Amino acid sequence: MKPLASVVLAAGKGTRMKSHLIKVLHPVAGIPMITWPVTAAREAGSETIVLVIGHQANAVQGVFRGAPDIRCAMQEEQLGTGHAVSCALDALAGFNGTVLILCGDTPLLRAETLKSMLAFHHDNQAAVTVLTAFMDNPYGYGRVIRDASGRVSRIVEQKDANQEEREIREINSGIYCMDSGFLFGNIRGISNNNAQGEYYLTDLLAIAVAQGLTCLALPTGDADEIMGVNDRAQLAEAARILRNRINRDHMLSGVTLIDPEQTYIDYGVTIGADTTIHPGCQIGTGTVIGSGCEIDQCVSISGCSIGNDCHIKAASVLEDSELGEDVAVGPMAHLRPGTILGKKVKIGNFVETKKIVMGEGSKASHLTYLGDAEIGRDVNIGCGTITCNYDGVKKHRTVIGDDVFIGSDVQLVAPVSVGRNSLVAAGTTVTIDVPPDSLALSRVPQVNKEGWRLKKKL
Ligand code: UD1
Ligand code: CA
Repeated sequence: MKPLASVVLAAGKGTRMKSHLIKVLHPVAGIPMITWPVTAAREAGSETIVLVIGHQANAVQGVFRGAPDIRCAMQEEQLGTGHAVSCALDALAGFNGTVLILCGDTPLLRAETLKSMLAFHHDNQAAVTVLTAFMDNPYGYGRVIRDASGRVSRIVEQKDANQEEREIREINSGIYCMDSGFLFGNIRGISNNNAQGEYYLTDLLAIAVAQGLTCLALPTGDADEIMGVNDRAQLAEAARILRNRINRDHMLSGVTLIDPEQTYIDYGVTIGADTTIHPGCQIGTGTVIGSGCEIDQCVSISGCSIGNDCHIKAASVLEDSELGEDVAVGPMAHLRPGTILGKKVKIGNFVETKKIVMGEGSKASHLTYLGDAEIGRDVNIGCGTITCNYDGVKKHRTVIGDDVFIGSDVQLVAPVSVGRNSLVAAGTTVTIDVPPDSLALSRVPQVNKEGWRLKKKL
């Protein structure tokens, strides 16, 4: 195989999205749209990927910061696709091989399709190969003009096409592979003498034909794949198709999705076999879920690592947290970033946690806020417990030792600690450290005024 480089066109704003955010940065299945074609190019074997950027260039660059295979080329003014590719030439200086040209707004394109296109291109020693599709409604796309013997002669844009050409159903996907020598030698020779006054990349096909070089068009079987996203309706459609693909992969590797149409799993989620996911769940990129877990309805999980055999009950929200094996959470619990739960921990309904470590077997079963705390093993946190971690200026830590029993309605005013095996009586406000094996009790002694109500009624 010859060396492969890619150019991804992403300088346009995407006006039809009617958004402050440029089109290629809108997320699709959890990652910016442009990440999809870039990933496909990588998987197809690209060693270098040049992004042609213009609008919101810094934001696009930011998505790929630190990626060694990505280079960015600025296109200050969007003068057409041919001009866009010419802007990538400096970034490709010295490259000799095949150049794949893609658009940033085609998230459905698969690496396998690119690989078969590349194989077709190389097997036929072509100078240019374009990926095409047959569409019932080809309106808006460039049409592929073939001669009487079926050989490609050129591409004509919608706005430049005559009536007869507009009848053609074979369209240009905007995805090409080209021999680098041919591309570099001819891209600057394109003119803008057309209906839109733009430099059309598509003119390279006619140029190759005129030079007697091999110019091919490869129709793809799946027209979905080349669907460009131009507006929010197409964005939703692309997301739906990607979701189906993602869900299908999980199901084939042993995950039960009760209703895949209503399960929203982003790109880059790992789920073990025999885990069941109920409808309405949203699982974000980077999440790892073990095997044998049960994820009930309408659970939202992002950036978490969840051990085997966990049960996440309905309507819980888990963010950037780590759960050991056999942990139960919810219903309606909120694990905020930095929550680390050991094996067999139980977090019940209406419990909120943030930046805490909780040891094996500990429980907070109801109506509790635990923030900035270090909690040992086999600790019981009673209903209504609050770590008062914030004094209005700073956050402070609460430390609770192993085997501690915290009664109901306890406030722990941090910084404070409760030594191992102590008991904090219900209703206590803990303001001073509790030594190990102790009872902490801070209640105003109760007064009973007998007959008080009877006197009131007189
Ligand atoms: C282009 C093709 C058309 C094809 C269609 C497929 C040309 C002349 N036409 O048309 O044959 O059917 O794609 O979707 O190539 N871009 C830049 N800089 C520019 C212009 C465009 O980066 O100066 C980027 C856009 O951001 C976009 C891509 O190139 O990602 C395609 O540009 P667009 O204007 O949408 O081309 P079409 O008119 O759709
Ligand atoms: Ca377009």
